Amino acid sequence: MELKDYIATIEDYPQKGIVFRDISPLMADGNAYKYAVTEIAQYAQDKQIDMIVGPEARGFIIGCPVAYQLGVGFAPVRKPGKLPREVVSAEYEKEYGTDTLTMHLDAIKPGQRVLIVDDLLATGGTMKATIELVEKLGGVVAGLAFLIELDELQGRKNLGNYDYKVLMHY
Ligand code: PRP
Ligand code: ADE
Repeated sequence: MELKDYIATIEDYPQKGIVFRDISPLMADGNAYKYAVTEIAQYAQDKQIDMIVGPEARGFIIGCPVAYQLGVGFAPVRKPGKLPREVVSAEYEKEYGTDTLTMHLDAIKPGQRVLIVDDLLATGGTMKATIELVEKLGGVVAGLAFLIELDELQGRKNLGNYDYKVLMHY
């Protein structure tokens, strides 16, 4: 299946100069959605994954069905003020200024093997903070999986030497 047929490209969104890669046509097509989720689940198959972790909101769209398919749990990474119990926090760089992501303190048990899933790797800020959160909780980052990597932003340079799966490069 040619997954790129299911990605919409919008120029100058959400601001001038940004080429936005929209995954909603992929989500809207049952075959394409299932194919993409299955590709990531197959990548995870031999990694003895205990938990999937995904950042809001688009990380949930891909991460939750991967967790369901593998028969493991899913732990959400959320913006501040969204999780009701005690959290661990990590700051990350955005294009302008910084932002914070959080996870519940008990979201990952020490030693659990985690696959982090998101729709898209751009600058890597979101993923860097998510890795930091998982590791603060004692989790082992066994892999990172994305539908899309925006190669020219070189987000990978911001991340460590983790195992990767990327389904589409732009
Ligand atoms: C988007 C995308 C990734 C992140 C990638 O999420 O879903 O999580 O940006 O960018 P980065 O590599 O430069 O950090 P966004 O923060 O727009 O939130 P959303 O998923 O709620 O739309
Ligand atoms: N998140 C960060 N950059 C993005 C882009 N260019 N398209 C879609 N989502 C994004």
